[in-house]
Amino acid sequence: MKRFAMAVLAALLLAGCAGNQTPASPTLDEVFASRRSIRAYEDGKTISEAEVRELLLATQNAPSWANQQPSKYYVAIGAEKREAVLELIGGNKERVINAPVFLVSTFEKGKSGFFRERPLDATGDYWGAYDNGLSNAYLILKARAMGFDTLIMGMRDADALRTLFDIPENEMILAVIALGYRAQDPSTPVHRPLDEIAKFY
Ligand SMILES: Cc1cc2nc3c(=O)[nH]c(=O)nc-3n(C[C@H](O)[C@H](O)[C@H](O)COP(=O)(O)O)c2cc1C
Repeated sequence: MKRFAMAVLAALLLAGCAGNQTPASPTLDEVFASRRSIRAYEDGKTISEAEVRELLLATQNAPSWANQQPSKYYVAIGAEKREAVLELIGGNKERVINAPVFLVSTFEKGKSGFFRERPLDATGDYWGAYDNGLSNAYLILKARAMGFDTLIMGMRDADALRTLFDIPENEMILAVIALGYRAQDPSTPVHRPLDEIAKFY
């Protein structure tokens, strides 16, 4: 009888827990498989500043050259800046018109790859661009893990963005990243055969 009561109690406890469960985080492989460049977003959906901050915190886990952390982000989350960015991304506008947030990604020049203001080798500021790409990779993968979608956009007017966000001249402006909720079922692009991109010795 006592054993039966214990079993009932355990079942009730389990049922109670199940009701309150938060969805499990996707695995890294699930994130890789479901992340795609999204070119149509759900209208009327918002993303909070707190959620964007969580994404940006994730980017700070990305490695960078001698931990220089040269990447910076200018976040268009208010209507005025968001609408202004839409006019500075050429043909991407129609693709991301309903994305609630845009992040302009830059890196400070003369940090990664430099020592005492001199480049350590011919790579120079390419190291900063490398670091910025890594930071962006963390951002888009974290975004997917949080249920968001992204489009990295290299087609953008960097000069006009510099003016819009008052971005200092010592920062190189790279991509604008749209953030929102997918309104399309994207297909996976064809990937090059592994043996074309890697050689084993
Ligand atoms: C640096 C960079 C710039 C890109 N610029 C654009 C762009 O301006 N517009 C666009 O629609 N996609 C752009 N893309 C997205 C690529 O086309 C996309 O990543 C590629 O086709 C692979 O598809 P997937 O991201 O779904 O795997 C860009 C991607 C990168 C990394």
